[in-house]
Amino acid sequence: MIEVRDLRVSYGGRVVADVPELDVGAGECVAIVGESGSGKSTTLLSLLGLTPDAEISGHVSVCGVDVLTASPRRLREIRGAKVALVMQSPQAALSPATRLGVLMRRALKLHGRDRVAETMAEAVDAVLLDREILRRYPHEISGGQAQRFAIALAIALGAEAILADEPTSALDVTVQAEVVGVLRRLRAERGLALLLVSHDLALVSTIADRVLVMRDGAVVESGPAARVLSEPAHPYTRELLEALP
Ligand SMILES: Nc1ncnc2c1ncn2[C@@H]1O[C@H](COP(=O)(O)OP(=O)(O)OP(=O)(O)O)[C@@H](O)[C@H]1O
Ligand SMILES: [Mg+2]
Repeated sequence: MIEVRDLRVSYGGRVVADVPELDVGAGECVAIVGESGSGKSTTLLSLLGLTPDAEISGHVSVCGVDVLTASPRRLREIRGAKVALVMQSPQAALSPATRLGVLMRRALKLHGRDRVAETMAEAVDAVLLDREILRRYPHEISGGQAQRFAIALAIALGAEAILADEPTSALDVTVQAEVVGVLRRLRAERGLALLLVSHDLALVSTIADRVLVMRDGAVVESGPAARVLSEPAHPYTRELLEALP
């Protein structure tokens, strides 16, 4: 579903993400962990061609599309319907004067879906939100609700992969757990491919099959989550683990 080889993303000549290898298959979950500024979000965004100001090289294939050479139109197609991006502050991406229900309905119609009302209700139920949320405006929901709404939108459109960038604030731990809980269930029920960014190794251990540890733009360690978290090979991973409460 997602295949990355020798990805290198730079801003003004400074390499901010260097990822030699990253694969996520259907029904798999891979997590990228690392401290603030290590290049996690940049890696995620580059997979959808969303780093317009960056110099970027390597090979990235997402749902069969060669991202680094694809036309803007082809990229919009995968972003809209096949791959969902759940961002750190999803409210900002929602149009402020549009109720969530209107937004979801428009997206479904744009992609030519029928059974719109049923699909919307099912998707909102699947992420454990109250259907009443569809009547609200983006500023009337919390960050965690906004992330779950973004996931609901993805499910409604039939997404095959979800890229999720978790909130980084320590205050958001319960929100993260909520969002990850929803992702875990959807992955099991629908075989979604998940690529999850988090600074929280404890949380990652509850969902990921494989882990990539990033620091200063480089992948310092990667492998099966069980192995990386129990027998970390790199001192930095050990540091992250020791920092856990
Ligand atoms: N558009 C940009 N222009 C220039 N530099 C950027 C840009 N976007 C990100 N960077 C730089 O790239 C580096 C990696 O940033 P990134 O957002 O990927 O980190 P992160 O691991 O997601 O951090 P956090 O956990 O805080 O979200 C940082 O040094 C950041 O300043
Ligand atoms: Mg980030």
